[in-house]
Amino acid sequence: MIAFTIMITFASMDKTKPTIIALPKICDPRGNLTFVENGRHVPFDIARAYWVYDVPGGEERGGHSHHQSEELIIATGGSFNVNLSDGYETKTYTLNRPFEGLYVPPGYWRTLDNFASGSVCMVLTSTPYDEADYVRDHDEFMALVATGKK
Ligand code: TYD
Repeated sequence: MIAFTIMITFASMDKTKPTIIALPKICDPRGNLTFVENGRHVPFDIARAYWVYDVPGGEERGGHSHHQSEELIIATGGSFNVNLSDGYETKTYTLNRPFEGLYVPPGYWRTLDNFASGSVCMVLTSTPYDEADYVRDHDEFMALVATGKK
C-alpha cells in the first residue's frame, strides 16, 4: 500500500480568492481514500456539509453568492463545472477529482453546470444554513459589487 498525507498550511493562503486545495489521499490497490479534519485540511471551521446529486443532464445549480459563508466544493463523484464571478470576470473550474476541493470565499456569484451523470457535489461550509446569508438576485449582487459591499 502506498500512503502519503499532505501537510497543508493556510497561513499564506489568500482567502479573498478562489483556490484549489489538495486534500489527503491514501492510495491503495483496494481503492483510494480521502478525508478532511476540521482545523487541518480546510481553511475554516466546518459548520455544515451538504451534497447535491441526481442532477439531470443540462441542469444548472447555484445561482447565488454569500455574504459570509465560505465553502469548499468537492466532486466526490463524477465531474461538473463551477463558474465563479467576482462581478468583473468569471472563471470556470472543472471539478472531477475527489482529492481536491475548490475554496470559494464569500462574495462570489456561483453557478454549477455540465454535471456528468451520477456526479456528487459535496460542499463544506463555514456557517449553518441561513437564507439571510444568500444573495439570489444577480442585479442585487452587481449592486453590491458596484458599492464594494459584496
Ligand atoms: P439552493 O441553495 O437553491 O441549492 P443550490 O443553490 O446549491 O443549487 O437550495 C435548494 C433548497 O434547499 C432551498 O430551499 C434551500 C434548501 N437548503 C437547506 O435547507 N439547507 C441547506 O444547507 C442548503 C444548502 C439548502
